[in-house]
Amino acid sequence: MRAVILYDSKTAGGSTEAIIDSIGQQLAESGAYVEKAKCKAMADYSFVREFDIVILGAPVYYFLVSSQLLAALIQGNLKKNLKRKKIALFLTCGSPDTLAAVLYLPQLKIHLIRNRILAEKIIPPGALSESETIEEFVDDLLYEYEKTLKEGRASHPVEWSDDALGLLHSIPSFMQGKIKTVAEEYAAERGCREITVAVLMAAKDEMQG
Ligand SMILES: Cc1cc2nc3c(=O)[nH]c(=O)nc-3n(C[C@H](O)[C@H](O)[C@H](O)COP(=O)(O)O)c2cc1C
Repeated sequence: MRAVILYDSKTAGGSTEAIIDSIGQQLAESGAYVEKAKCKAMADYSFVREFDIVILGAPVYYFLVSSQLLAALIQGNLKKNLKRKKIALFLTCGSPDTLAAVLYLPQLKIHLIRNRILAEKIIPPGALSESETIEEFVDDLLYEYEKTLKEGRASHPVEWSDDALGLLHSIPSFMQGKIKTVAEEYAAERGCREITVAVLMAAKDEMQG
């Protein structure tokens, strides 16, 4: 799984960046490929299309979600490039969860009504010392992501081309099950209906890093 964390903060080395590093580390430990990028309102966000999950995170300053992330959604091309993307959201702020869920999360969610939101969390600035909050966010995200893959596989079973099936059967039988699962997950993540030789080779390359 490929995830990108798009974030904004006015504080270099502040709580948002620390939380992002922790989320990134936990995702990487689960086997995900993770990148992070700081938002600029008018940047070109077409690169997010390469990722399976986009995590948006920012602090709240003076009752508003940090400005570059909001502006990227409202004025920039971020929203357009998030079409059909699976999203996770977190905010860091000093307000209690209940208040933040009503006042601040909707500032992001109003722009994401067509997206599947896998996980959302209010993470208080001190959460690194209570790392369960971040663990819970990452666990929710991974659980929901797996669920979307299973749903995708159930509603659109992946077909194998004859060539790809021949290639699969040519490898030692004890490895076939693992390769088959990796290829089917790779295809499901990318919305491929058929595993061809090219898809199988790409899945193998990704598995080998
Ligand atoms: C200038 C300033 C304004 C803030 N305004 C709010 C606010 O309106 N609501 C809130 O819940 N938290 C507010 N906070 C708390 C921050 O959202 C919180 O400390 C956050 O973790 C800061 O992230 P950073 O370290 O990346 O800057 C404010 C903090 C600062 C420094």
